[in-house]
Amino acid sequence: MSLKLKSGFEFDYDNLFGDGKVTKADIDSYADDLKKAHAAMNVMREKGFIKAHLSKDGEPEKVLFSQLPYVEEGHLNSPASLKHLQELSDHAKKDVDVVVSLGIGGSFLGNKVLFDVHCGSFWNAKSDEERGGFPKVYFSGNNIDPRSTGDLINHLQKMAEVGKTHGKDKLKVLLLVISKSGGTLDTMSNFMVIYDALKKSANVDVEVVAVTDPNTEKMTLLKKLAADHGWDTFAVPDGVGGRFTIFCDVGLTLAACVGFDIKAFLDGAKDMDEACKNEDVWQNPAMLNAALKFAASEKHGRDIEVMMPYGDYLKSVSEWYIQLLAESLGKQYDKDGKEVCYGRTPLVAVGTTDMHSQTQQHQEGKLDKIVQFVKIAKWDNDLVIPDAFPEAKKLSDISGVTMGEALEVARQSNADALASNNRYNACFTLPELNAYHLGELLYMLAMSVAYEGELANVDAFNQPGVEAYKRIMGPKLQELKAKK
Ligand code: PA5
Repeated sequence: MSLKLKSGFEFDYDNLFGDGKVTKADIDSYADDLKKAHAAMNVMREKGFIKAHLSKDGEPEKVLFSQLPYVEEGHLNSPASLKHLQELSDHAKKDVDVVVSLGIGGSFLGNKVLFDVHCGSFWNAKSDEERGGFPKVYFSGNNIDPRSTGDLINHLQKMAEVGKTHGKDKLKVLLLVISKSGGTLDTMSNFMVIYDALKKSANVDVEVVAVTDPNTEKMTLLKKLAADHGWDTFAVPDGVGGRFTIFCDVGLTLAACVGFDIKAFLDGAKDMDEACKNEDVWQNPAMLNAALKFAASEKHGRDIEVMMPYGDYLKSVSEWYIQLLAESLGKQYDKDGKEVCYGRTPLVAVGTTDMHSQTQQHQEGKLDKIVQFVKIAKWDNDLVIPDAFPEAKKLSDISGVTMGEALEVARQSNADALASNNRYNACFTLPELNAYHLGELLYMLAMSVAYEGELANVDAFNQPGVEAYKRIMGPKLQELKAKK
């Protein structure tokens, strides 16, 4: 059983639905709730309103991520904001050697997806020409780790020195500092350390671009710094939580710096949004995904979701999804204030790699999981496995097929084996790994957690739980500083 869109995007839920799995009766039992959830999504699209959603300051707050795919005058993504991104792209191509993207959580995970899918592992080892003139890219701020930050600084300083000995100009480094709140410890500590070190480096020119809350009345620290220093700024708009920011300037600034196709990405998201307006649960990928997973969790105890795309460069999609699911749905209280401790636990996996580590558990461990595969139907530049050693029969037997075909045989075999032992699994298929289909997939997942929030009656757009450690950490840091 599968739901296939005109674009070729497919949701195969055969191993999740039917006898001994989630049943039609399970889904039918949610008929009223699904109707209400669908109506709530329409209100969210039209008015940005989600019942009982409050900001972290306890104020009513709009939910606007579903507006992002629609580039229109007066929208969060507008012709003017896309023009600004194009200017950044032109500037990065013409004037910048290296971009360091600084951010954490929602200000990092989506950017890493775009980078991995578009650039791959060897981007920084390519020549300028092979990169289409776009700069090298490094990530920082995703931890507070003196070793990796020190390594990055040394690496950039070395690069600048080598350039100088070859008669090149100063190394031009653009620090893309991304923080909605503008003061996150992880991001800002790395920023200050790197900024200070590079400013003192004779062979480096440093430029800063800030991506932060655009509010000019109550400026974030980062916004204020940008105003004082004359840095260019981009917006993390109100109403777009960190885990949805891949579709706004957070993700799109990085996209602009590497020549990723922003228009195709947003078009994919927009077409998926249209598909997700269907009121028939069996025709609406996000509603169907949410209903099946909610039922699997609530009625069958399968409340762990292993996100397992097949292909190295998709591991970051899994990491992005972990935040989306965890922060959106892991909630102690429902919208009526009742303690529910809801949430399905997300796990990162990637095929085939984790078939050699996690699969034993998926196949024979507790009956508490759904394995969600992501498959690419057709790989660019697929490689045929050659008959390099005809004398070795076992190796000769696998020759003649492509690596993409072998990858899919491995995934299919895993799916069949899991299904044969009553292990729920499902698969999203992207016809190709490109900006359009990536936009479709990520947007569908975002819309799906919004639906599931309605079904579980929890606020999918707040994250009060992450404030608890912050309340402890702030004074602890002050204490430490006072002792110095
Ligand atoms: O989803 C979230 O809100 C978080 O993961 C944030 O994105 C993360 O904490 C970084 O916050 P900020 O962008 O304010 O630096």
